[in-house]
Amino acid sequence: MRGMHLSPDDSLLTHIVDDLAERGWSRQRLFLPESLTGELARECRKRAAEGELAPAGVGRGAAQEVREGIRGDHIQWLEPGQSASCDQYLELMDSLRQALNRGLFLGLEDFESHFALYPPGAFYRRHVDRFQDDDKRMVSAVVYLNDHWLPEQGGQLRMFPEGGGVLDVLPVGGSLAVFLSGDMPHEVLPASRERLSLTGWFRRRGNEPF
Ligand code: OGA
Ligand code: MN
Repeated sequence: MRGMHLSPDDSLLTHIVDDLAERGWSRQRLFLPESLTGELARECRKRAAEGELAPAGVGRGAAQEVREGIRGDHIQWLEPGQSASCDQYLELMDSLRQALNRGLFLGLEDFESHFALYPPGAFYRRHVDRFQDDDKRMVSAVVYLNDHWLPEQGGQLRMFPEGGGVLDVLPVGGSLAVFLSGDMPHEVLPASRERLSLTGWFRRRGNEPF
């Protein structure tokens, strides 16, 4: 039962897997239990108030730099064992990782994630999540933590699927957006209010030696 083991029910996981296989993206309105959404939002705000979130960089490794004209969010990477609510989130994402492996044979071994806070007006220009020099990121998953989000407040995740057109997802609290990291260009539109999320990537093992 949903809530007891904090694992989304199998049919929800199956939907996500099927959506990804058929069209490369999925959106679930009710992914996080409501109480957990509230706890994670509080934790994100607390970390921000304590100065733990830092302007996000663009690029990877030594080439990384902060460029607010490209992305204006503030982030903090998650580690297991920091709080009960973050650990519950990580547990949920691990059940999704296992479902993706069962259904799509992606060989996902790892999950990395961060809190993200977009101040009003901040955005993230069109990009693809997989790095050019590191193809380990396979599936991107964003969980939104915003109460009562209204369409006129903006802040959409805008995806550009291969076949053409655009897909907009509002960052509604408790909902989940998932897409293939290598194939789905996307952007975050500016919002009139603060926009909170947990963004993560399921990764496969890389070929290169570390
Ligand atoms: C990202 C990203 C989308 C969102 O962090 O790479 O594209 O909706 N986030 O927050
Ligand atoms: Mn992205």
